Amino acid sequence: MKMLRSWLFVPGDDERKMTKAVGGEADALLFDLEDAVADERQEIARQMVADILTANPDRSRQQLWVRINPLDSELSLPDLAAVMRGKPDGIILPKTYSAADVNRLGDFLSALEAREGIDQGATKILCVATETASSLVTFESYIRDVTDRLVGLTWGGEDLAAALGASDNRHPVTGDYDEPYLLARTFTLATARAIDAQPVGSVFVDFRNLEGLEKECLRDRRMGYIGKIAIHPAQVPIINRAFSPSEEEIAYARRVIDIFEQNPGLGTVGLDGKMLDMPHLKQARNVIALAEQLA
Ligand code: COA
Ligand code: MG
Repeated sequence: MKMLRSWLFVPGDDERKMTKAVGGEADALLFDLEDAVADERQEIARQMVADILTANPDRSRQQLWVRINPLDSELSLPDLAAVMRGKPDGIILPKTYSAADVNRLGDFLSALEAREGIDQGATKILCVATETASSLVTFESYIRDVTDRLVGLTWGGEDLAAALGASDNRHPVTGDYDEPYLLARTFTLATARAIDAQPVGSVFVDFRNLEGLEKECLRDRRMGYIGKIAIHPAQVPIINRAFSPSEEEIAYARRVIDIFEQNPGLGTVGLDGKMLDMPHLKQARNVIALAEQLA
């Protein structure tokens, strides 16, 4: 699966923002039919999203995804039925309880792909894995049985706070996430890696604070996340840069790979006075693979 660094949310009923975002720097756009759209605008938004998808069939430089309403809302099926004619690259599923929701969405997509003449399985899924109270204790369900359509997991701290009855999700002085959100972040990462899906960093809602965003991107990346959800175009270049391997990282990764290739059969080697073994080689290969994909 292609790794996508920046995933920009665009309200699905805002023509100005939608037109502006298409062809911009974001690796993927997420046209929103859920929280960003008022109920009385739902039908207009569905048609606008289907139209912009249809008008932009070439997704080689930027993927186009749609966030539908949660499956337990009566809006979700009409959302899907309306947008599938535009052949979205994928669907974002909010407020999941467990992998069962993702599998149900997969079945709906199979039927709609058949209707639209789309290859079976072509429509991918990114789920927002932690927006309900149940979701924090059902991660194991993804490892047991989940559709191959699920290519990414992200997490949400805003709806989760509401679901847990919290008055806030960050410490009032330090601004650090409280425990349930750290748990959500860790389990989302581990679950995504366990099923070979992309772990995608959560939104940074304070969209004027670009320095804070950059810090959070670097921390996400250090932990193993790849890419982040954006809500404002100004966040996109920061996310793209933070999740692209730097020249120095690429050069170092090449040296690590070289030294193992020059010493076949050796499991451990020394470089610049540091011990390197298989995890370092794997890491170096990941850096090069990502750099090659971005080039
Ligand atoms: N996608 C595309 N363009 C966007 C955008 C977005 N998500 N957010 C802002 N812009 C555009 C604005 O239209 C504006 O362009 P213009 O000057 O040509 O009109 C420009 O970027 C600067 O916008 P700015 O004035 O800084 O922000 P704002 O106050 O208009 O909007 C938000 C702030 C948060 C309402 C807006 O960024 C937004 O709608 N974000 C997405 C919200 C969303 O989808 N949420 C659901 C998921 S959590
Ligand atoms: Mg709504």
